[in-house]
Amino acid sequence: MENSKSKKIVIANWKMNPSTLTEARELLSAVKKGIKKIENMEVIIAPPVILIPQLKINNNDNIKLGAQNMHWKEKGAYTGEISPVMLKDAMVKYVIIGHSERRQYFGETDEMVNLKVLASFKNKLTPILCVGENLEEKNMEKVQDIIKNQIEKALNGILEKQIETNKIFIAYEPIWAIGSGITPTFDEILSVKLLIKKILAGVYGRNIAEEVPILYGGSVTGQNARDIIEKGSMNGLLVGGSSVKAGEFINIIRALS
Ligand code: PGA
Repeated sequence: MENSKSKKIVIANWKMNPSTLTEARELLSAVKKGIKKIENMEVIIAPPVILIPQLKINNNDNIKLGAQNMHWKEKGAYTGEISPVMLKDAMVKYVIIGHSERRQYFGETDEMVNLKVLASFKNKLTPILCVGENLEEKNMEKVQDIIKNQIEKALNGILEKQIETNKIFIAYEPIWAIGSGITPTFDEILSVKLLIKKILAGVYGRNIAEEVPILYGGSVTGQNARDIIEKGSMNGLLVGGSSVKAGEFINIIRALS
């Protein structure tokens, strides 16, 4: 695994945006231009899957290609689904798994998330595993239990050796922070980061715990990006709303460079 410490990671989750190929091309070309001179940063863009072949993100040094979701089966009668093999064939390197919008609106369970994580390892895609609590769980001070449970279930059956050879990122995304303009305190972010490291160390040992990049997502902007990384001690960011505004996304990347 490459050293995750030095290289900051910024992932753009475009979600179901923009609506046209023309807009998507404009967005991508503005981002490319804006980050041309930026080094030592891993920028991953996850567009809607229909745009993937058209945008021709060729995994050059500046921008790598991600997907927002996938099915765990490699092929078959699963209407409307996209397989890991198809993503690989389309040059996708990373795949967001278990995003709270998938869990919330499309009934994705921890078991399904686990099957997807297993499938991404099998197909040599790097999973970006999303975990996080909702507001009620936060208010009931259940954050630690929720995160622990989600991570342990998602990684069920994944061996230490597999994590060593196939990377995985873990993104802490409190559901109440997504799209709300509200973020946790830096101390809260830091405490979840330490918790995730502890969980990983418990299952896989300290080396793996140190190597796996931990990201934060939820209302990230150019204003708060740097503090979240520094004060929250994060390896990177998963960005939704701000990633479809070229100027704002470039500001985030510049703030970390
Ligand atoms: P947001 O979304 O940046 O719009 O809050 C983050 C995400 O859902 O990954």
